[in-house]
Amino acid sequence: MRKKVVAGNWKCNTTLQEGVELAVAVNSIVAEKGAKDVVVVLGTPFTHITKVFESVDNSRIGVSAQNCAAEAKGAFTGEVSAAMVKSTGAGYVILGHSERREYYGETSAILNKKVALALENDLTPIFCCGEPLEIREAGSQKAYVIQQLEETIFQLSESDFKKIIVAYEPIWAIGTGKTATTEQAQEMHKDIREAMAAKFGADVAAEISILYGGSCNPKNAAELFANPDVDGGLIGGASLKAEDFIQIINAY
Ligand code: PGA
Repeated sequence: MRKKVVAGNWKCNTTLQEGVELAVAVNSIVAEKGAKDVVVVLGTPFTHITKVFESVDNSRIGVSAQNCAAEAKGAFTGEVSAAMVKSTGAGYVILGHSERREYYGETSAILNKKVALALENDLTPIFCCGEPLEIREAGSQKAYVIQQLEETIFQLSESDFKKIIVAYEPIWAIGTGKTATTEQAQEMHKDIREAMAAKFGADVAAEISILYGGSCNPKNAAELFANPDVDGGLIGGASLKAEDFIQIINAY
C-alpha cells in the first residue's frame, strides 16, 4: 500500500523562532488528533531544520529541506549539500519545485544531479512537476508533465525510482487560490501513474505516492484526497498555520 503523505512547504517564510513555534504547535496537535496513517512532513528553510527536528516527535513527523546542492561538496559558496541536510536529521528534500525551476534556472540536468545526491545520502526526494498556465490552456499539460518526468526521475533505476515521492503542482494553482478541480487533479495523477507503469511496471507505479500541490487548503483537501490517485498534498500557504495544516492532514 502506498503511503498517504501531507508535506508542508514553508518556502521562504518564518524566522527560526517562528518556525520552531509552528513546528511545536503542529507536533502537539498531530500527537493529539493527527490521523495515524498519514506521513506528516515539515519542509522548512535550511536554517530551521535542526531545531525543528529536535522539537518534534521524530516517529510522527519528518523534516524536509526545500532544496540541496547539485554538488557533493567543495568550493560552492552558499550551497547546502545533501549530506549536510542528512546530517541534521532531515529525511526528505523537495526537489524540482517550479519556483526553483523558474527563478533559479534549475534544469532537468541540474535536478538529476540533485536527485542522485539526495538518494546517495538516504534522503527521500519529493520531486515536483507541473505545467504553467499557457500549457494548460493549450491542452498539452499531459505531454508537458510526462516529459518533465522522462527527463528526470524516469531515468532512475527501478530501485531508486521506488524511493521517490512525486508532487504534481500545476503552476497556475500555486499560491493563487485557484485550485485544480478534483477532476483535473485525478486526471493528471492517473496519467502520471500510467506513465510510471509503462516505464517501471504496474506494481512499482502502484507503490509511488503522488501528492497534489497548489492552493490546497482545509476546505478543498478532502475532495482532492478522495481521488484514487491522489495520495496526499504538498502544502504551501496553508502549512504556515498549524490549525489549517492539521485539518488537511485529517482530510482523508
Ligand atoms: P500553495 O503552494 O499551497 O501556497 O499554493 C504549494 C507549493 O508551492 O508547494
